[in-house]
Amino acid sequence: MAHLPPPPTAALAGAPPAPQPPARPSPAGRPEPQPPRGRGPDAPARPVALVTGAARRIGAAIARRLHADGYDLALHYRDSAADMRALAAELEAARAGSVLTLQADLAEVARVPELVAATLDRYGHLDALVNNASAFFPTPFGATTPPQWETLLAVNARAPYFLAQAAAPHLAAAHGAIVNLADIHGERPLRGHAAYGMGKAALIFMTRALALELAPRVRVNAVAPGAILWPEADAGAADKSAAAQAALLARTPLGRIGTVEEIAEAVRWLLREASYSTGQVLRIDGGRMLDA
Ligand SMILES: NC(=O)c1ccc[n+]([C@@H]2O[C@H](COP(=O)([O-])OP(=O)(O)OC[C@H]3O[C@@H](n4cnc5c(N)ncnc54)[C@H](OP(=O)(O)O)[C@@H]3O)[C@@H](O)[C@H]2O)c1
Repeated sequence: MAHLPPPPTAALAGAPPAPQPPARPSPAGRPEPQPPRGRGPDAPARPVALVTGAARRIGAAIARRLHADGYDLALHYRDSAADMRALAAELEAARAGSVLTLQADLAEVARVPELVAATLDRYGHLDALVNNASAFFPTPFGATTPPQWETLLAVNARAPYFLAQAAAPHLAAAHGAIVNLADIHGERPLRGHAAYGMGKAALIFMTRALALELAPRVRVNAVAPGAILWPEADAGAADKSAAAQAALLARTPLGRIGTVEEIAEAVRWLLREASYSTGQVLRIDGGRMLDA
């Protein structure tokens, strides 16, 4: 696992003051966590979140939202090193010592627990796991290859399961929470994407199963986005995207696609405020699932 070189830590001129950390539960009998790097020994520990696939798009929005809410972050990426470096520099400029970056291919299941271990090494505790990374590509039935199927299931379901398994004792010690990024197409199939949908369906099942396994100390919920950002593979096919977008909006009661900030806020809410919710799948889809 390659750790990026530390980003610049100079404060931004004119940047707003960093938000105060919210109180973190500290169960009795647990060793005191080490203060995060760059903070005094008497400073209260900030909550810590591990977010996968965080360099860009929805993952980066989740990172920004949780950081603004006072979390210190362990941010995972696979290929987007430059985006991750820029995001880490942005967040470090707002609050020095608040970001750890971790590179891994989540299809390599043996490396998955390293992410949790590296987060613990750095911060000493873990309050939140956000399983956001995802593989998404079509698998036309009749032409799907076993490696395609394995990648889609490995990244969308197997890695989140083993990340949760590695994180569970630490989340339990912190009375923490897990949020999984699912998809409305884990509940209703998307034509040409059966293997992807099976991966997200497994993630939804995992959300409910682990909510049962890990209660009462750890809550486990999911966000199921509708259309938020088009896959980048479609970006070149402007006509196709425009036609597909118009057709999709016609079947979306709220009449627009969602924003990355709306997804990020749902994740924050499930982590921080949904204190009597576990095993839930929160659709953020503009009502799309209401219209067959
Ligand atoms: N975008 C939408 O409209 C939408 C709709 C429904 C559900 N969702 C769900 O919401 C989440 C975020 O959506 P998104 O569109 O922002 O996701 P995305 O861009 O498709 O993927 C997020 C990140 O996953 C990482 N990733 C892919 N394969 C990986 C692998 N083998 N190992 C490790 N990391 C890997 C990539 O990191 P690198 O770039 O660093 O390689 C990528 O940036 C996903 O779980 C997605 O399924 C999104």
